[in-house]
Amino acid sequence: MQAIERVGVIGAGTMGNGIAQACATAGVDVVMVDVAQPALDRGVAAIGASLERLQKKDKITADARDAALARVTASTDYATLSRANLVIEAATENLELKLMILKDVAARAMPDAIVASNTSSISITALAAVVRNPAQFLGMHFFNPVPMMALVELIRGLQTSDATIDAVRAFAQRLGKTPIVVRNSPGFVVNRILCPMINEAIFALQEGLASAEDIDNGMRLGCNHPIGPLALADMIGLDVMLAVMNVFYSDFNDPKYRPAPLLKEMVAAGYLGRKTKRGFYHY
Ligand SMILES: NC(=O)c1ccc[n+]([C@@H]2O[C@H](COP(=O)([O-])OP(=O)(O)OC[C@H]3O[C@@H](n4cnc5c(N)ncnc54)[C@H](O)[C@@H]3O)[C@@H](O)[C@H]2O)c1
Repeated sequence: MQAIERVGVIGAGTMGNGIAQACATAGVDVVMVDVAQPALDRGVAAIGASLERLQKKDKITADARDAALARVTASTDYATLSRANLVIEAATENLELKLMILKDVAARAMPDAIVASNTSSISITALAAVVRNPAQFLGMHFFNPVPMMALVELIRGLQTSDATIDAVRAFAQRLGKTPIVVRNSPGFVVNRILCPMINEAIFALQEGLASAEDIDNGMRLGCNHPIGPLALADMIGLDVMLAVMNVFYSDFNDPKYRPAPLLKEMVAAGYLGRKTKRGFYHY
């Protein structure tokens, strides 16, 4: 398997530009591909602003900032992926869209390129089934904001080879990340544990066990969580939380994942958390 020296990132949004920045900061050339030039412009601007903040805080030198920015190119043309050894798909979370993108990648990328998806919820085994080389496909699940968060979950589909996992594990370490290897399953490991924990906090609130503030203080001060589960739900978005719990409920076919009725009520009311200025707290 060839060394990973040039990366293609598909999607220049929140995650795509963060992944591109992490690659560029580690000295890897990266091309971001998106459907429209404004999305690319926003992505490149976000990388520039983030590098600037890191430089102002003395986390990187001015030279390192400039060198990282110079390693990022952006294009609306999938043909620019042809020189990438690793292609990371980080486009909008939609199965049909990802299937279409992966077919395009198969037609454009080098035959022995490794292809990864940053999907949060779609089966890696199902996506692997449509790529040219399923053994060289895996999930590479970064966390938001990518430049700050140390974890990458590497998701092994049924078809993924050991050599692919080994190569991408080494690459993630080169980015300064700590990879964990997870077998394909809904929610992988972190969301599988995190989302039912948040759902349980909503049950506790619904049952009147304690106030929202006291539930959050309990988990902050008793378990050392940096933020309480209800405040975190407001950040994630209650609609997103409900969608995740519904996927777990139907995919595992297990009632332990049923979404809390209060979560459904809040979403029905349009109280989605920070983005609507009202969730478990007012903003
Ligand atoms: N936001 C998070 O916290 C988070 C965390 C982990 C994983 N993810 C996953 O990362 C992926 C991207 O999420 P995001 O939050 O960055 O979304 P986003 O909406 O910020 O960005 C998605 C980008 O994909 C682009 N896009 C759409 N169709 C495309 C195509 N055919 N080719 C190229 N680009 C295309 C859009 O123009 C947009 O710029 C999703 O699969 C999501 O589940 C998100």
